[in-house]
Amino acid sequence: MLLKKITLLALNYTFDATRFIKHSSVFTINSQQKIEGKITYNYHSIEKGHINEQIRYKFGVIKINKLIHLLKIWLNRNYDITNSQFIAACSVLVKYYHFHSENKVDISEIIAESDYYLFKPYYNENVGGIINYDINKYFQHSSEKFDLFSDSRHSVRHFNGEMVSLEKMREVVKIAKNAPSVCNRQSVKIKLVNDHVLTQKVLKIQGGMIATANTVNQLILVTSNINSFVSEVERNQMFIDGGIFLQNLLYALHHHKIAACALNWSKPFFYDKRIKKLLKLNPAERVIAVVAIGYPPNEFKVPFSKRKELSEILEIFG
Ligand SMILES: Cc1cc2nc3c(=O)[nH]c(=O)nc-3n(C[C@H](O)[C@H](O)[C@H](O)COP(=O)(O)O)c2cc1C
Repeated sequence: MLLKKITLLALNYTFDATRFIKHSSVFTINSQQKIEGKITYNYHSIEKGHINEQIRYKFGVIKINKLIHLLKIWLNRNYDITNSQFIAACSVLVKYYHFHSENKVDISEIIAESDYYLFKPYYNENVGGIINYDINKYFQHSSEKFDLFSDSRHSVRHFNGEMVSLEKMREVVKIAKNAPSVCNRQSVKIKLVNDHVLTQKVLKIQGGMIATANTVNQLILVTSNINSFVSEVERNQMFIDGGIFLQNLLYALHHHKIAACALNWSKPFFYDKRIKKLLKLNPAERVIAVVAIGYPPNEFKVPFSKRKELSEILEIFG
């Protein structure tokens, strides 16, 4: 019986690994969606570079080079030029070019004029880049009808230093814990790191928030305990239940006018060891995500983060 269970688990993990090797863009870029993922990864990083107060000229050269390379592959392979992420990428690239030329900074060694004219036909002024907010405008829909509410949440990466009270955080988690989970098994825990120094140590390990990390005083670790899962077929359930909880948490924070940015924990295993040691986590806990939280400054910027069109997402059968 034990041997059967171990064999089934090993087979399933092997199947997972084989599928990932074949269908992710880690090893091959032989489909439009693989290229699309890589394009979005790179242009989003350029968008994020524009939210900083002091924008460094010529930032993100490596990402820009990769983006140009991928966009050229896109065009050479005659992929869909109406694709939302292709258009967003071209728009970000063109805006980057305009930003430098308006400031009279020569970037011909980063984006050649010929490349600028190659991508300009796909530029949409209303897509890509950043959105400017003031705090009142940002939270104006935080208690509104769900469509307005949901549309008004963004990842905020700047904070004003004021601490969110423990009382407020209890209210937030009370809402977040309404999240559904498999058989109501509720594997998720919320770890509030409520100390600036410890927060900085976690962010240093996480590594995804370099430019504005020093403005973060508090963060949340969303974890899922593997003890709750009963069969080898549930080997990925922690990420589903944890992900649902994470989204509900982001909404609960927004409802309470607390700014937040989810930060990924797709890390090699030794990062798990580091965070476990730092926060003395139970070895059965998997980190799902880190969430930087706090109150935003009076004025701030967020990346545009263009969503796919409905027609690119919704498939109807029957
Ligand atoms: C699981 C997860 C991990 C994320 N990791 C990072 C990260 O490491 N650094 C970062 O700046 N943003 C991170 N984000 C924020 C995304 O960039 C952001 O959600 C996306 O661009 C959509 O924008 P929006 O949240 O403003 O709607 C993450 C978001 C999620 C859901």
